Amino acid sequence: MIDFTNLPVRNKTYAGANGRKISVVYEGDLYMLKFPGVSRINTEMSYANGCISEYLGCHIFESIGIPVQKTLLGTYTKNGNTKIVVACKDFTSNGLVLQDFASLKNTIIDSTHNGYGTELSDILQTLEEQTAMDPQILSDWFWDMFIVDTLIGNWDRHNGNWGFLYNMETDKISLAPIYDCGSCLYPQADNSMMQMVLDSPAELEARIYERPLSGIKVNGQKIQYFKFLSSLKYQDCNRALKRILPKIDMDKICKLVDETPFISDLQKTFYKTMLRERKERILDFSHQKLLKRERSKGYER
Ligand SMILES: Nc1ncnc2c1ncn2[C@@H]1O[C@H](COP(=O)(O)OP(=O)(O)OP(=O)(O)O)[C@@H](O)[C@H]1O
Ligand SMILES: [Mg+2]
Repeated sequence: MIDFTNLPVRNKTYAGANGRKISVVYEGDLYMLKFPGVSRINTEMSYANGCISEYLGCHIFESIGIPVQKTLLGTYTKNGNTKIVVACKDFTSNGLVLQDFASLKNTIIDSTHNGYGTELSDILQTLEEQTAMDPQILSDWFWDMFIVDTLIGNWDRHNGNWGFLYNMETDKISLAPIYDCGSCLYPQADNSMMQMVLDSPAELEARIYERPLSGIKVNGQKIQYFKFLSSLKYQDCNRALKRILPKIDMDKICKLVDETPFISDLQKTFYKTMLRERKERILDFSHQKLLKRERSKGYER
């Protein structure tokens, strides 16, 4: 158990709307400490589970082989009040600056549409037309992230929540590791909500098929993950599904949940159940449908 309370504090600051953040030095490296935000939906909770979501979401990306920020869970005590916090290792060292996708989008899309607007067609147009990196590599990255966000139920992958590392000296740009997974895995669910979802098939299904919605929109409507993926309408998304699915190792992911510090057995069961169900009912289902469609097309030929 790491206690982050008395570490040296630095002057690096971080934006974002989801809770307090400070920078500290831990074992020689700079970390952003994210404090739990207050629970806006569930006022019964003293604070939301966003720090656990951040830690688990990031480790799930890692288990799938996608570069991601390093995260550690620990505690922080202030005025005798101890909270669970997540430390995110700062990846902007050696003169690298983080440029979010919104700022890249501003180079392509008329700014009346706003870099932070998440209409999918504008995002896809930016992926295709930008010249900072190979459009195929960028498109693959975006859709791979979308598939994993589907698995973990992320409702906040807005254009500020992924991006690039820019080297001021060389003008080189590369993909930034995945960061901000704090809005995945139902961060507002408390014990009674978790128990209710586990006990009721209807409540569970609502949280697989209907919500959370994606942060990305089609025709102004937030994407419903199941509807979108199983429609098989987007070829690049279908390809990402085929690419990512074999890399999802549920045994590994369940072990990760089991070994997560601070959380109760109920929480562990809830996370494992939701992840298993989301994988089977959204990803596996869509994959089977895709294979069936491909087989029948091959047959027609
Ligand atoms: N590991 C990291 N290293 C360096 N900078 C980071 C890292 N993680 C996040 N940041 C920067 O700090 C900002 C705030 O972090 P983060 O997105 O995790 O906070 P948030 O409050 O959850 O954001 P949101 O408003 O999207 O909910 C990010 O937008 C990004 O610019
Ligand atoms: Mg953010």
